[in-house]
Amino acid sequence: MVFGLNVKEAIYEWYIKNGRHDLPWRQTDDAYKIYLSEIMLQQTQVKTVLERFYFPFLERFPTLKSVAVAPLDDVLKMWEGLGYYTRAKNLHHTAITCNGILPKRPEELGGLKGIGKSTAHAICAFAYHQPLPILDANVKRILCRYYALQTKDEKVLWEKAWKLLNTQHPYEHNQAMMDIGSLICTPKNPHCLECPLHISCKGKEEPEKYPLKVKKAIVPTKQRFALVIMQEGKLGLIQRKEKLLHGLWGFVQVDVCPSNANYLGRVSHTYSHFKLELDVLILNESIEKVDGYFTNEEITQLALSTVDKKILALCSMMGNIPPTS
Ligand code: ADE
Repeated sequence: MVFGLNVKEAIYEWYIKNGRHDLPWRQTDDAYKIYLSEIMLQQTQVKTVLERFYFPFLERFPTLKSVAVAPLDDVLKMWEGLGYYTRAKNLHHTAITCNGILPKRPEELGGLKGIGKSTAHAICAFAYHQPLPILDANVKRILCRYYALQTKDEKVLWEKAWKLLNTQHPYEHNQAMMDIGSLICTPKNPHCLECPLHISCKGKEEPEKYPLKVKKAIVPTKQRFALVIMQEGKLGLIQRKEKLLHGLWGFVQVDVCPSNANYLGRVSHTYSHFKLELDVLILNESIEKVDGYFTNEEITQLALSTVDKKILALCSMMGNIPPTS
């Protein structure tokens, strides 16, 4: 804690000394690169984005224009494994809508598909140093604790976010809030004594009381069958049409076990709202319509969801498809 400073100055000083300045999206003022990082980081941890997705995506799509002119399948391929594929589809849609050039005004940015108010503010604050606050999940938790708010009321939280914003240093303020949220003001066992907001924090005695925890619904389990349909050494796949995983390629799934199939194994995957358990069956004839038959080599060029990759790995492990050369 730095004595003699007000809380805004303390947050700023903390960031200068302790912030994660080396994060690549903090080393650029390219609005597209910042926008991409914000979208990737919405449902994914910094470590995963940093180690596996951010750089390869930028290598393939160095500009928003390059996203705009690419087929959606190519964008999905680079998003493969990151999950929440609507993010990739919205990114592609937005790239086309604004013809590769992002607007600079937060109201206009916030009107684009997949860019909410907080993300619009993040892009403007980080790329152009506009004095706008961010209100993501981490910032909400900090504000609830700092102002001892038990409920997460959007309107109240935006008011508080504006109140706390350091308009002289919006870039550093918002980046600091991100870091404090993930490193110090953590959901469990926060490190209050290291926090620059500590001196005037109203929630510091019992931080875990703010905000009140709402009981998480138990996710239901769906049990289905995945069909590995083989013909002349090729695998039959469909391109998904349903909302979840739309546009990705994968194995046919059915609710009823077909009679002429051999059991290969079980794979499972947990989505945000349910857990999927799939008994994987191998078939030598197509009882369901597929969108194409592919060699293992060709499949590596398609965008598959994580659960379909697990099925593919199971097939390889059981010796049912030749390994990729
Ligand atoms: N999560 C969302 N935006 C972030 C940023 N700019 N830095 C670190 N984590 C983030």
